[in-house]
Amino acid sequence: MLAFAERDGEDAGLWGVTGLLHDADYERFPDMDDAEQGHPRTIMAELRRRDAPPEMVRAIASHADYLGVAAESPMERTLVAVDELCGFLVACAYVRPDGIHGLTPKSVTKKLKQPSFAAAVNRADVRGGAEQLGADFDEHVAFVIAALEARADELDLRGRDAGGAPAS
Ligand SMILES: [Fe+2]
Repeated sequence: MLAFAERDGEDAGLWGVTGLLHDADYERFPDMDDAEQGHPRTIMAELRRRDAPPEMVRAIASHADYLGVAAESPMERTLVAVDELCGFLVACAYVRPDGIHGLTPKSVTKKLKQPSFAAAVNRADVRGGAEQLGADFDEHVAFVIAALEARADELDLRGRDAGGAPAS
């Protein structure tokens, strides 16, 4: 979200925090059928209580298609376009010795065609998100890989062979 906001001259603080918080209630309230507290209703209510920007709350609603809030603004469409994809790219990185480094759109597409790999990731959402953004799929994937790669250390995506204490 930060990388897209920076690229497009948008509010990186808003976009980054929206990305960070959009699933904040998921582990505790995963039941999407719970109309009171089910994800992401609890985090939306909490953010409203804290006077968070309404566009942040709306974007969080829009990533949950069952809430009937369409992803319309650039931030909303970007959230939908990177959410499932980031999960998938992290899964790809975890099974590679070099982690995120050197991961290509071509190998991502190949892995997307293996239903057993990261089976929880909805392939239609991955494709549909990029389409809704009007992005070429490979270019979109390459941009998100580069964004994750730039933060590989803090995201722990450096790969198995990158262990050891950080240089000081
Ligand atoms: Fe979510």
